[in-house]
Amino acid sequence: MDPALRLRLMTEADLAFADGLRGIVGWNQTLKDWQRLLGYEPQGCFIAEWSGSPVGTATTTRYGTELAWIGMLLVHPDCRGRGVGRALLEHCLTSLKGTPCIKLDATPLGKMLYDKLGFEVEWPLTRWECKYFMEPPAALLTEAGRGHPRNPANESIEGLAQDAAPRASETSRIAHHASRTLKPLDASLAAQLGRLDSHAFGISRAAMLERLVAGSSRALVAISEGGELDGYGLLREGAKASYLGPVVADLSAGGTALVNALLSHAKGRPIYWDVPDVNAAATGLAKELGFSPQRHLIRMYLGANKHPGNPAQCFAIADPSIG
Ligand SMILES: CC(C)(COP(=O)(O)OP(=O)(O)OC[C@H]1O[C@@H](n2cnc3c(N)ncnc32)[C@H](O)[C@@H]1OP(=O)(O)O)[C@@H](O)C(=O)NCCC(=O)NCCS
Repeated sequence: MDPALRLRLMTEADLAFADGLRGIVGWNQTLKDWQRLLGYEPQGCFIAEWSGSPVGTATTTRYGTELAWIGMLLVHPDCRGRGVGRALLEHCLTSLKGTPCIKLDATPLGKMLYDKLGFEVEWPLTRWECKYFMEPPAALLTEAGRGHPRNPANESIEGLAQDAAPRASETSRIAHHASRTLKPLDASLAAQLGRLDSHAFGISRAAMLERLVAGSSRALVAISEGGELDGYGLLREGAKASYLGPVVADLSAGGTALVNALLSHAKGRPIYWDVPDVNAAATGLAKELGFSPQRHLIRMYLGANKHPGNPAQCFAIADPSIG
């Protein structure tokens, strides 16, 4: 390692630098996202200094003892190609020693580095972007539902037509769909998310979900006719766009209803939505709602991927920095 390079723990005092670097690279996270990452893993977020000045960042997030995530690997453009990125990544891996599986969502630049360190491809995902979200007319949405041969969600899309109507206050609103009910996610329902989410994600991330719910601008659950909680979804504000995710649903009907209802609260805003490519229902919905692919990422893992989860139930990831 070059003697000018030093790695150390990130502190609250570094967050202005970290978020400034994030802004230079053009990512969508906010100061609140950094605070959540650091608050969750105060011994696992790092700063790289070059000759005493901060030049890079990386974060880790542990999900129990089985899985950890690496995120926010950023090096100032003026300091790239000097080994800073590799040193930060290796430092993260050392700090996560003993964790059987480490994952991340790689940009094309990052992938060159991760390939060298033995990370393997799990699945590709696409960031879908809508520059100015306009809720399509209800009739069009119903048509879009009919155009989804593998999606038994027409009733949910019908439900969206109801959603598009003027509504009562945020907390009192309950949208009834032919097959499910959407409700604001409150503390009593949050406890039930665990089973659903760990099935889709592969492992429990209840503590992180709690923080994401607390930081969201809108949080909904889908309840089936039988009274089962079979989906949930969040929307939060980002630096460049509202961010849709995570959205998890047992069935595409629930995912579709959740996405439609969450998006109806982001009208007039740009929206980013990261979707596993394998989720055909979510990809189809993104296209029908006028989203376009903005960039491609690759979910990668190092170690034994014993708890892969089910990306087909993942309508939107939580964030590339945490999975
Ligand atoms: C990805 C990033 C962190 C790499 O940082 P860096 O300090 O330039 O990386 P390093 O100098 O340590 O190089 C790491 C390795 O990747 C290779 N590499 C890095 N950038 C490369 C490029 N543009 N073309 C080819 N290879 C490249 C280097 O050859 C090096 O290999 P080596 O260690 O075997 O010599 C940096 O480019 C960055 O901040 N990019 C924008 C944000 C981003 O995409 N982050 C990754 C998130 S998944």
